This record gives sequence, C-alpha cells and structure tokens, in this order.
Amino acid sequence: MALHEIVRRVTTHVLHEMKLKQEKIAMLTAYDYSIARIIDEAGIDVVLVGDSASNVMAGHETTLPITLDEMIYHAKAVVRAVKRALIVVDMPFGTYQGNSIEALSSAIRIMKETGAHCVKVEGGSEVIESVDRILSAGIPVMGHLGLTPQSIHKFGTYVVRAKEEKEAQKLVEDAHMLEEKGCFALVLEKIPADLAAQVASELKIPVIGIGAGLNVDGQVLVLHDMLGITQEFSPRFLRRYHNLYAEIKGAVESYISDVRTLEFPNEKEQY
Ligand code: KIV
Repeated sequence: MALHEIVRRVTTHVLHEMKLKQEKIAMLTAYDYSIARIIDEAGIDVVLVGDSASNVMAGHETTLPITLDEMIYHAKAVVRAVKRALIVVDMPFGTYQGNSIEALSSAIRIMKETGAHCVKVEGGSEVIESVDRILSAGIPVMGHLGLTPQSIHKFGTYVVRAKEEKEAQKLVEDAHMLEEKGCFALVLEKIPADLAAQVASELKIPVIGIGAGLNVDGQVLVLHDMLGITQEFSPRFLRRYHNLYAEIKGAVESYISDVRTLEFPNEKEQY
C-alpha cells in the first residue's frame, strides 16, 4: 500500500520515506480555515501557508509587505482546520535575513503561536546562519531556491532562474549546503527541468518543484492560481484545474439578479 494511503499524520519523516519509495508529494498553499479543511480532507500531503498570501489574500503586488503577525494570523486559521497534512509556514521578508537571532525568535513565534510544524525560508548561503540557528532550536526548515519572490527587486523580473552556468552552479551548491545543515526538504521554483532533476537526484531530502519539471519528488502550486481564482497570473508551469473566478462571478450575478427580481427568498426560504 502506498504511504499516503496509510499515514494518519504527515511528518517530515513521512516525506523522507515517500522520497525513498519514489512516491510523489502533493503540496498546495492555504491561508484560511475553510479552504485548508477542504484540501486536507482531499488528501494533500503538505499545506504551505505561503507568503503568497501577500498577493492573493491582501492584494499586494509582491510578497514583501506581509508581516509576521499577518502570517501568524493565517497560519493559526490553517492549523485549526488541518488534521492530516504537514503544515509549513513561510517566514516573511525581513524576519530572518541578516540577523540569525531575530530569525530564531521569528521562527519560535511562528511555532509557539500557530502550532504549525515547520518554517520555510528563501535563499542559500546568504541566509545559512539563520537556517543553522533556527535548526538548532529543533525547528524543521524547508529551503526555497531558484526564483525566490522575496528577492524580486534584486532580480528585477520573474523570468526562469539559473539558466546560466554560474547561477546553476551556485544553486546546486546552495542545495547541498541546505541539506548538510539539516533542512528537511527544498522547494525549487521556476528553474530548468534538467537542473531540478539533477538536484533531486543528488539530494537525499525531498525536492518539491514549482515550474521545475516532472523529475523532482513532488509539486507545489498556489491554490488560488490552480483553481483559477487569480486571472492575471499565467506562467507556463501553471495548470488551471478550474475557473473558479467565472464560477463565483456567475453565482454572485445570479444572486444579485434573484434579489432584484424578488426571486430570492422564496416561500420555503422564509419563516
Ligand atoms: O508563498 C508561496 O506560495 C510559495 C510557493 C510559491 C512555493 O512560496
């Protein structure tokens, strides 16, 4: 029997076992109780309380503005809903770069106040001191390399990363460094599929891709993108499983029309 069919609670250990057994890991984002409950009951392995909440929940252009308090608010709601999946919380921009003591206290706040299981940080050698210190407190850390949206102003664009040899080499070195320090998994975003496959085969920890091809240990998407709630964002890697924007809009238009034409409520819908 496949591991995902028998585990009652997904842990970092389960993810390692899944990699060993070559079972793919399915990960999605969630930021609130109701959606987290649905995706957990559907059988998702990992729920990421992503800082993409800054875009899809708060309407900011980038992930930079979201605060630690806001991430904690979202994570608490998700934790109340999820019974099976592993819950990872993004550490927001400015809470772990450049100061490992502040990084540890931010990670401790996330763990203590939300009840989530792990944190995720973006970057390699630049943040390794923070990663090391967070891990020293027994907090599991997921790495994130490739396109790291918190550095968007440094990159200046959301194009595919690590196409050039030098950047690819640094990414491979960073991936190994994060594994050696003790990260339990790694996200690779928007990099060439061959490079992602190389990293996944060289590392023992699970590598989860987003725009990183098929030959990694699992996939992650932003829920609002794969459900078609967001309209303007359509990179090549995004598969839309639904057009929820149109569904919701259609339902709301029907409701408005029913209210205006006295079709709602009817006799059975009143006391
Ligand atoms: O914040 C987020 O949703 C993420 C995913 C894109 C991996 O980091």
